[in-house]
Amino acid sequence: MVQDLLRLGDEQHLYFNELQIHDVLVENILEFMEYLKIFYQDWHNSDTLVTLPKKQIFQTQDSKGDFRIMPCIIHNDYKIKAVKIIGTNEENRVIKDKICVGKSFLIHPYDNFIYAMFDVCALSSFRTAAISVLAYHLLNTIQASGVGIIGCGRIGFYTALILNKWLNVNHFYCNDINQTNQENFLKLAEEYMAEIHIDFMPITKMETVCDSIFLATDSTKAILHANNTTNIKFISSVGADADNLSELDANLLEGRTVVVDSYHSMMLGDLKAWEDQNILDRKSVLELRTFINNQNNPPQNIVFISTGIATQDALISQFIYDKLTKNNQN
Ligand SMILES: NC(=O)c1ccc[n+]([C@@H]2O[C@H](COP(=O)([O-])OP(=O)(O)OC[C@H]3O[C@@H](n4cnc5c(N)ncnc54)[C@H](O)[C@@H]3O)[C@@H](O)[C@H]2O)c1
Repeated sequence: MVQDLLRLGDEQHLYFNELQIHDVLVENILEFMEYLKIFYQDWHNSDTLVTLPKKQIFQTQDSKGDFRIMPCIIHNDYKIKAVKIIGTNEENRVIKDKICVGKSFLIHPYDNFIYAMFDVCALSSFRTAAISVLAYHLLNTIQASGVGIIGCGRIGFYTALILNKWLNVNHFYCNDINQTNQENFLKLAEEYMAEIHIDFMPITKMETVCDSIFLATDSTKAILHANNTTNIKFISSVGADADNLSELDANLLEGRTVVVDSYHSMMLGDLKAWEDQNILDRKSVLELRTFINNQNNPPQNIVFISTGIATQDALISQFIYDKLTKNNQN
C-alpha cells in the first residue's frame, strides 16, 4: 500500500556470479572473440559509436589499492549503457586472494534502471585476456612459432585458453614466481585444453623459444627489458594497471611501436610513468582499432598495453546477459 502511495515500484534485476560468468564465457569463446572483433570494426568505422568518459580512480591514505568507476555507452544497434565499479583488493582483509572485486552493471537503455549486475573478477580477467589476444591476432602478421606467458594466474589462464580455442595455439612457454599458481594453471589447462604442451622456464630462456610474450602479472618491478627481449616481436602487457605496478622497462621501447586498446590506457601503470618522464610521446602511440582491416600495415615489433577500458566491460556484460537469458528472450 505504502509502496503504491509513494510510487516506489521495484526495479527487477538479475545477478550473475563469478562461476556463472566463467562458465558462459568459456562455453562461448569463439562467439565472444568474433563479437569483439566486429565491435572493433564498428568502432573503427564510427568515432561516435562509444561514449567513454575517463575512469575515475579513488584512493585513500589509510589503505592500499583503490576503487574505480568506469562508465560507458555504446550507441547505435548496440544500445548498451553500463558502468563498472571495481576495487583493487590489495589489502585482502575480508576477501582473500582476489585482486579484482566489485560489480559491473547494465543500465536499461530507456528507463535507466540497473537491470543486470555481475561480479567482476572473471569478467574483467576474461575481457582483458580477450583484448590481449585480439591485439595479437590483429597485429602479429607473422604468426608466432612460440608463445610465452608470464604470470599464470586468472588473466594468464584465460589468455592461454583463448589462444588455444580461437587461434589454435597449443604450446605455451610459461613463467610464474608462485609455485601454487603454476600448479593451478597446469590443472586448469588439463581440465579445459586437450593436447597442449606447457613448459615452465626461467624468463631468460623464454626469448630463445618465443617470439611473442604475454604478461599478466601483479609485479611492482619491470620484468622484461631490452636485454631479455631481443628476439621478441610481439609483447602484450596487461598486468600493470595501477601506478605501483610495472611489467616493462622503458629501455625495450627502442625500435618498437606501442599500441593501446584506447588512449585511456595511458592513464595508469608503465604508460603513465613513461609519459610523465617524457620517455614516450603520445603521438607515437597507436590505437588498436586502426589495424582492424590491416589498412594500417602492422609494424614488425609491437608492444601492446592495456590498463583496461569500460568499453570492454560494457560489451562483455551485454554478451553474458544475452547468453544467460536467451531462453527467456525466445
Ligand atoms: N589491464 C586490465 O584491464 C586489467 C584487468 C584486470 C586485472 N588487471 C591486472 O592484471 C594483473 C593480474 O591479474 P590476475 O587476476 O591474473 O592476477 P593473479 O594473481 O591471478 O595472477 C598474477 C600472477 O602473476 C604472477 N607474478 C607476479 N609477479 C611475477 C613475476 N615477477 N614474474 C612472474 N610471475 C609473476 C603471480 O604469481 C600470479 O600468479 C593484476 O595486476 C591486475 O590488477 C589488469
